[in-house]
Amino acid sequence: MDGLVRPALDVHRIREDFPILATKVHGKPLVFLDSGASAQKPRQVIQAMTRCMEEAYANVHRGAYHLSETATAAYEAAREAVARFLNAARPAEIVFTRNTTEAINLVAHSFGRGLLKPGQVVLTSEMEHHANLVPWQMLRDAGLGIGLRFVRVTDAGELDMDHLAQELAKGDVGLVAVTHMSNVLGTVTPAARIARMAHEAGARVLFDGSQAAVHRRVDVQALDADFYVFTGHKLYGPTGIGVLYAKQELLLRMPPFLGGGDMIESVTLERSTWAAPPARFEAGTPPIVEAVGLHAAVDYVTAIGMDAIEAHERALVDHAMRVLPAIEGVEILGRAQDRGGVFAFSFDAAHPHDLSTLLDRVGICVRAGRHCAEPLHARFGVENGTSRASFGLYTTREEVDFLAEALTSARRFFAGKAG
Ligand SMILES: Cc1ncc(COP(=O)(O)O)c(C=O)c1O
Repeated sequence: MDGLVRPALDVHRIREDFPILATKVHGKPLVFLDSGASAQKPRQVIQAMTRCMEEAYANVHRGAYHLSETATAAYEAAREAVARFLNAARPAEIVFTRNTTEAINLVAHSFGRGLLKPGQVVLTSEMEHHANLVPWQMLRDAGLGIGLRFVRVTDAGELDMDHLAQELAKGDVGLVAVTHMSNVLGTVTPAARIARMAHEAGARVLFDGSQAAVHRRVDVQALDADFYVFTGHKLYGPTGIGVLYAKQELLLRMPPFLGGGDMIESVTLERSTWAAPPARFEAGTPPIVEAVGLHAAVDYVTAIGMDAIEAHERALVDHAMRVLPAIEGVEILGRAQDRGGVFAFSFDAAHPHDLSTLLDRVGICVRAGRHCAEPLHARFGVENGTSRASFGLYTTREEVDFLAEALTSARRFFAGKAG
């Protein structure tokens, strides 16, 4: 913190940056409450990507001509911007991937197969998105003797820290891989404390920051994260680009994940040697235009200020926690003390898919289903899924109220049909 008092976020001004927010759905103003799945894009991102393709596009790291050098400089500038955004010690600790999912698969393959030892365990939790679960199941099943265990989630929807301590005390955990913010419960996990506990037990730690990095200032050095991953499209950037932050001492020891061009030092027909990180982990033509878009997105949220974004969303969360649970038939999943703007809820009058279809008719976009977190839905006994409203920096208090009114009307509508 620099001690400066920042101006509050002017949400109505900000909304003008997002062309899609002026569109209509079924003739109704768009009320986009699915930013947790993928966020909308500001004009600054769209224009940066268009400019890149119109004026400065070529492949990177190979051409000895001006345009390629310009594109390479833009690609590497994006890496520097992301390093600053996460407060990484150096840009070389930033690896560009396709998304969070690929970043976690990279760690599972490379760190998991290369540096974990037989008998060691990956400790994840019941709260994870499938992206932070399935790659570890695949590692467990690869026949390398690596185990997999899960930290329980409390009824309030928080990580059970006593259970985490018990699991770590077994002395065999090589990696703790947990979310920094749940995409279902909104729970923000105590990441710095988790990292401290993991390190004291001799384990490394990975945080899935797909949701958290959008809503809060993240400082990987202050957290002492070994790995931190997030995905560009939720941070108001494009699809097709994700980020793996990893400490340099780890990247230097990790074998490649994918092989091909750009990730090698030398190649003969018989064998190859690997380039230094981050190139070692970026096989093939990287997401060049997407990196430029992500750079613009990072600049965009940084100019607004992550603290201002967090404050705006905290006010929305407080408001939503007052109005949504008060609606008859609505049950919010999870009551974590520290939470962000993601609300999954069950609704007694209709299946989540029917509810989302009805809400769509009045312009409201919410997600329906199990939000790629089936074990968590099973944990809370809502196997049929839930509806989920999730906020972005452009979400307004009026939109939350509109959702609340629409839910009340939906309950009347479904009750009328049942009767
Ligand atoms: C917490 C969390 N982890 C991982 C992911 C996966 O992100 P992506 O599909 O961009 O790889 C998501 C996206 O929904 C998420 O919310």
